[in-house]
Amino acid sequence: MKDLSSNNKSIVDGPSRVDGKHKVTGKARYAAEHPIDGMLYGVLVDSTIAKGTIASIDSKAAEWAPGVKAVISHLNSPKIPGYDDKFYGLKVFFNNKVLFYGQPVALVVADSFERALHAATLVKVTYNKDKSETSVDKNLANAKLPGNPRMKDYVRGEADAYKKAEVSLEEEYLMPLEVHNPMELHAIIAHWLADDKVKVYDKTQGIKDTQESISKTFKLPQENVQVIAEYVGGGFGSALRTWPHEIAALLGAKKTGRPVKLVLNRMQMFTMVGYRPYTRMKMGLGATKDGKLTGITHEATAQTSRYEEFTEATVNMSKFMYKCANANTRYRLVQMDVSVPTWMRGPGEATGSFALECAMDELAYKLDLDPLEFRMKNYAEVDPENGKPFSSKHLDEAYKLGAEKIGWYDRNRKPASMKEDGMLVGYGMSSGTFGAFRWEATASARINADGTLVVQSAVSDCGPGTATSMVQIASESFGIDASKTSFILGDSALPPGPTQGGSGTTSALGSAVFDTCLALKKQLHEIAAAEQDSPLYQSKFEDVKFEDGDILLSRSKKVAITDLLKKKNVPSIAVTLESKGNEELQKYSMYSFSVHFAKVHVHPLTGVVRVVQVATVADSGKIISEKTAAGQMIGGVTGGIGMALTEEGVFDDRFGKFINNNLADYHVPVHADVPHIDTIFINKPDPIINPMGAKGMGEIALIGFAAAIANAVYHATGKRIRELPITPDKVM
Ligand code: MOS
Repeated sequence: MKDLSSNNKSIVDGPSRVDGKHKVTGKARYAAEHPIDGMLYGVLVDSTIAKGTIASIDSKAAEWAPGVKAVISHLNSPKIPGYDDKFYGLKVFFNNKVLFYGQPVALVVADSFERALHAATLVKVTYNKDKSETSVDKNLANAKLPGNPRMKDYVRGEADAYKKAEVSLEEEYLMPLEVHNPMELHAIIAHWLADDKVKVYDKTQGIKDTQESISKTFKLPQENVQVIAEYVGGGFGSALRTWPHEIAALLGAKKTGRPVKLVLNRMQMFTMVGYRPYTRMKMGLGATKDGKLTGITHEATAQTSRYEEFTEATVNMSKFMYKCANANTRYRLVQMDVSVPTWMRGPGEATGSFALECAMDELAYKLDLDPLEFRMKNYAEVDPENGKPFSSKHLDEAYKLGAEKIGWYDRNRKPASMKEDGMLVGYGMSSGTFGAFRWEATASARINADGTLVVQSAVSDCGPGTATSMVQIASESFGIDASKTSFILGDSALPPGPTQGGSGTTSALGSAVFDTCLALKKQLHEIAAAEQDSPLYQSKFEDVKFEDGDILLSRSKKVAITDLLKKKNVPSIAVTLESKGNEELQKYSMYSFSVHFAKVHVHPLTGVVRVVQVATVADSGKIISEKTAAGQMIGGVTGGIGMALTEEGVFDDRFGKFINNNLADYHVPVHADVPHIDTIFINKPDPIINPMGAKGMGEIALIGFAAAIANAVYHATGKRIRELPITPDKVM
């Protein structure tokens, strides 16, 4: 056994998280931790059938239990004005229909959590049960083209051209259902301040989205809904939308006239806040004998719910990742009696890349080519899907750096040829990609008379360290020390920030912070340049620099911003502005790229796979904060180890019920499963996307990783495993 204590001991140097101390000392307040006077506690009663109707609800015993203030169900729920035909999602306590196992059917509100929990056990619900379907595999015949028009079949050149290729491959790959399981449980405190005015403390990745969806659901003016999310303990996509439990808490608070706190339990985290859908895929790849791709076909069939369609970009990466004249994709959905899936880190691309990047490895072996060489032979210099240039792409360099780090060329490429300490040794690699975006966002920047800079925006931080990177961008762009700069987030009353999802926060919000600081600098300079006795009198903005809180024309001609504010006798000067991309961006294909290299040990008798070394490389433009970026990559790889080796949500299809809906049976990686991870950044600014040159990183950290492990297991054992997770029973 290696000494694990030496793992990851020094990640990277550089500034630490600005909120790190708050987090590790318990000062950080997560949604459920806000103390509110007179607060009540809500506990949900969940359905125990997957499909059917509620025949009766007997809540008398619960209502008479000590401390109980209300029991709410479809029988007595306050009407929700926004539950119309256009409503998107499950309507909680709306009618007697049961659409999945674990659906909230009643809410008990009491004066303590324990009393609510007890009373919830006293609610007696009877059902008329219908036969439910939860097995995708048994219902593949019912797979249909989604209603979403963007999901129609794609053909470039000739469809299924792989079938005619000199060398070809056709295989099936499986991504099982996966559950986000952030450490923090989903939680909300709903507090009606008036009949038409509400404040919620909520776990959300999108403060403005939550504000908008609550205001629409309850038909309230947007400004009457305040959403607070100062800290979020992980999301991975599960907090990208408003879920029924949030509406339930709002109903509970409305009915009782008191603030209500509702925290899901871990089992409810498996059925109430989405998951990565079970997806069966078929890959067809064709190439010439010398390794030029001639056909790429990617088909996917995923699960969705009956009450709402969820689609994701599972097959998209196969359209543009490699140079190939012929490519086609097909995406289908099977409606099941399950809760609706949602985006989970890397969303569809994480699923799709498993098929594509395993198939690339398989075809490379068929062609007797190094898998890395095979990828380079089919390297896309321009986007094969639309012919546009990439705004930036340094994937070739990433391949090289990762290969060097892991010792790729020192291995014996032959499968099952390497041994070490009695273990089979395997090396595997894969690549990943995810769109890079520039959404609109608004920030404000205020310079105070004491020389401190305060930047604000209504964004939440589910973990990447948004405040830290925004402080970095603001202090660099304003020319002021980071210690004098702060970033305030977590409140919908702040200028509208982006949703934290799709790896888009740094680009969107960073641009707003950058542009706002620039506008503030211009305003300050304008004031200085108008002062007749100022050394900057009548100077041009282009000629001055901002450094250490001074505006400088030259070393001797400068003005301290603090003096300027004092002279004008104002406590502060602030600017708020919106920033967004322009039409120029449309001329480019914008993507981040990643490469993952992994070394595994496979036990020759038990088939247990251990990841022993990882080198992961990100081409995500300029790195704003190296330490938080490394944290993102390490987190993505850790999620990828779970995806590759252990994570799988399992249903008992007889009852339509999850059977491993807890962290003892649903295995996420623990420290002992995670080896040393080298994180490498290309760190070359993208000249197009935004003023910082930063592309996204959250998704590419995970996308492709599971394929690197599957490929490494093949190299170690000679056995292809195309169904995740790669558990010992499949290896043996
Ligand atoms: Mo991410 S799946 O966009 O939180």
